[in-house]
Amino acid sequence: MINKCLFPVAGYGTRFLPATKSMPKEMLPIVNKPLVQYGVEEAIEAGLKEIGFVTGRGKRAIEDHFDTNYELEHQIQGTGKEKYLTGIREIIDTGSFSFTRQREMKGLGNAILVGERIVGDEPFGVILADDLCLEQSEGVMAQMVKLYKQFRCSIVAVEEVPEDQIEKFGVVDGESIKEGLIRVTNMVEKPPRNEAPSNLAIIGRYILTPDIFDIIRDTPPGKNGEVQITDALLTQAHDGCVMAYKFRGRRFDCGSVEGFVKASNYVFENIYAAK
Ligand code: UTP
Repeated sequence: MINKCLFPVAGYGTRFLPATKSMPKEMLPIVNKPLVQYGVEEAIEAGLKEIGFVTGRGKRAIEDHFDTNYELEHQIQGTGKEKYLTGIREIIDTGSFSFTRQREMKGLGNAILVGERIVGDEPFGVILADDLCLEQSEGVMAQMVKLYKQFRCSIVAVEEVPEDQIEKFGVVDGESIKEGLIRVTNMVEKPPRNEAPSNLAIIGRYILTPDIFDIIRDTPPGKNGEVQITDALLTQAHDGCVMAYKFRGRRFDCGSVEGFVKASNYVFENIYAAK
């Protein structure tokens, strides 16, 4: 029913310079696995096996990561090191991978619109790999796919954030439908603290219905001169329906150095060393 997942990965990752000068932010490892692989695993677990990347200049390492490296395979064949490639081999065998380029950084809304040629006319997931979401029993995208089957409208994942951080996020407000689920009536991108309609911040997981593409086309640039997906979603919420979902699990903002280090420590202690 939902088969495709977009990964907008065109951003420059300036907060990680100089590390990201010639290497994509999404390839930074959390312990021994690149950030983007965690996101792709979450998509595939949710049944979204057609993966579409919206890339930019300097992001070729992502394409290589989701392709076979024959020299390396040959080199370690039959050795004890082969086990390190099991996970990525499975992903490459299970998923299909497409790439398209966003030529100018015109914002997340624009990046998603560039993905239209991969998505076509069907509902799709969006994962921002720099938000690392960890949940033991069911990934956040899988949780959202279940909700989509019930409500058939766009869904954004939200999290309660402290007041002093709210201005970094898109913020939603609306009517409670049931525990953890809100029908969105208002949405603001990066509001000043005293103008935030709630403490519910949108994080990097979305399910979008394909009418969003026409809405984005008609959405003028907003905050920072970028085409904001938040603005397009507000139009969609007014014309139809958008749900905000308080997901189960833990999120790390790996787009910031602090969140990245916290995630690395967490994964090392709770997943890697616990194996
Ligand atoms: P961010 O603004 O957090 O990422 O965008 P960035 O620009 O890479 O990082 P900094 O701020 O310079 O350190 C959120 C996500 O949206 C994608 C980014 O790749 C990131 O995954 N994005 C953003 C695009 O693909 N295109 C855009 O025009 C903007």
